[in-house]
Amino acid sequence: MNLRRAGALAFAGLLAAALSAQEPRPRAGPGGRFGNPPDLETYIARLEEQGRAQWQRPDEVVAALGLKPGQTACDVGAGPGYFSLRLARAVGKTGRVFAVDVESVILDALRDRVGQTGLTNITPVLALPHDPLIPPGSCDLILIVNTYHHFPDGPTYLQRLIAALKPGGRIANVDFQKRRTAIGPPLEQRLAREDFLKEAGAAGLRLVSEKRFLPYQYFLLLAP
Ligand SMILES: C[S@@+](CC[C@H](N)C(=O)[O-])C[C@H]1O[C@@H](n2cnc3c(N)ncnc32)[C@H](O)[C@@H]1O
Repeated sequence: MNLRRAGALAFAGLLAAALSAQEPRPRAGPGGRFGNPPDLETYIARLEEQGRAQWQRPDEVVAALGLKPGQTACDVGAGPGYFSLRLARAVGKTGRVFAVDVESVILDALRDRVGQTGLTNITPVLALPHDPLIPPGSCDLILIVNTYHHFPDGPTYLQRLIAALKPGGRIANVDFQKRRTAIGPPLEQRLAREDFLKEAGAAGLRLVSEKRFLPYQYFLLLAP
């Protein structure tokens, strides 16, 4: 094995370990609050890790959402803002992003990043576990990344998100496939694409489009 490949494998192993630590069991936490690990500082650093872009492909994900300047997007389970900041650039100065999270320490990290970038179109929202607290009929698009399994009751939560959509609005869900992948949490902590779609159907959502360029995650676009 050459040095480069050995280095790449070591990096993949570290990232897998980090994700195992950061990704809780569906609807159950690994010791911290809201399904997060107790060491939030490490968790935040891992969510923002540079190497994540190799498999998360965040700019392609945001491009695939087809947002237009002036639109309103919501990032539910925003974390420290990995996607929120990119969404904010996509909707531009005349648009708005609600960055929703239940963990105040994580939301503080997001606020710090917003301050550093000078973006003026992000509204951080400290939500309740069962309610994103975003205004009804306000969003063109709601993005959920690696977060659905944190919700205490998925279908009920999705119904609240539907109420927050504008007419014609969509919900995008990105989450790990329930199969062995080089990166990602243990299989028992993942929710299969088909199981998510069943819950989404129960909430009144239908699949309108699916993007297949992510190596480890499904990427589904849904509408009421
Ligand atoms: C695995 S992280 C994903 C963060 C971000 N979406 C990303 O991809 O970098 C899950 C996030 O969801 C948040 N969260 C957990 N339960 C939540 C809930 N009921 N409502 C909103 N956010 C929640 C956590 O605090 C955490 O920041």
